[in-house]
Amino acid sequence: MDRREAMLREMNLYPLWVRRDLPAPQAAEVEAPAPLERVAAVEAAAALPQTYEAVPAPAAVNEVTTDSAMQEETGSAEAVTEEAGDETVPPDLFAAPHDEDDWTGMTFREHGEGEDTLRAFQRKVAAGPLAGVDWPELKQKVHDCQLCALRAGCTQTVFGVGDQQADWLFVGEGPGEEEDAEGEPFVGESGRLLDNMLIAIGLRRNANAYITNVVKCRPPENRPPHLGEIAACLPYLKRQIGLLKPRLIVVMGKTAATALLDSDATLATLRGRVYDYAGIPLIVTYHPAYLLRKPTEKARVWEDLRLAVETINAL
Ligand code: URA
Repeated sequence: MDRREAMLREMNLYPLWVRRDLPAPQAAEVEAPAPLERVAAVEAAAALPQTYEAVPAPAAVNEVTTDSAMQEETGSAEAVTEEAGDETVPPDLFAAPHDEDDWTGMTFREHGEGEDTLRAFQRKVAAGPLAGVDWPELKQKVHDCQLCALRAGCTQTVFGVGDQQADWLFVGEGPGEEEDAEGEPFVGESGRLLDNMLIAIGLRRNANAYITNVVKCRPPENRPPHLGEIAACLPYLKRQIGLLKPRLIVVMGKTAATALLDSDATLATLRGRVYDYAGIPLIVTYHPAYLLRKPTEKARVWEDLRLAVETINAL
């Protein structure tokens, strides 16, 4: 059994995924981090008909924290100028949220009528002027962040890993115990599965993909992050997207999908389409941890990955 076959077996994908009319993939093609179009899985996906149309993400979230988009991000349009790194941006925008709002413990559903979107909630949380912030400074800001209670309870922040020029961005939920200990996203069991998923489409975490999470601090007992925690952390992810400028974003799991699409729809409803996220195609799939609990869903993830490859190849 070659490495590719072993990997596909691990994902419950083999031999289901080999299209009969395509040549059998060569192990050598996935051994080295080759350009995407040289990888068999990618070629196979590229051969599929282009049957997907981009679905616009909700207009309110169809943006990233680029050097000019931050004023909308923070809801502080008066305070933040459009100029990258403008000195007049008040430094205290990074201050803790208002006392009147005990928002850090809220969940999406508890948030209440009239304020039922993450975006609306986020307007209350001035996360700071991130426009013009570069990678090292952003990492430092994440490290120093005290916007929610998670920072006090975690060992260290988990910023992200990978090539800062990568075409592919993978977004998970938040660090677990092992990630918290190592300071790197997806290093535990679900991370090993994610690595296999990446390899299946010719990617590697330190070569041609960037991996991060919606929240950068481990929630206690690995619980899902609360709405307020997501809202506080999201500007960091958006700035990462603005800096990375990926050609494609894959969001894994409900938390990441909710955060970036500002939708509380089920994952089953959200997946299978290509969303337009500030001009970047975005694809939703199941979280690797969910796949560990429900391996039969790996088939759907493979469909999603093929859609992702097909989409990036068509750009
Ligand atoms: N689950 C996530 O969502 N992210 C990690 O980094 C690890 C597990």
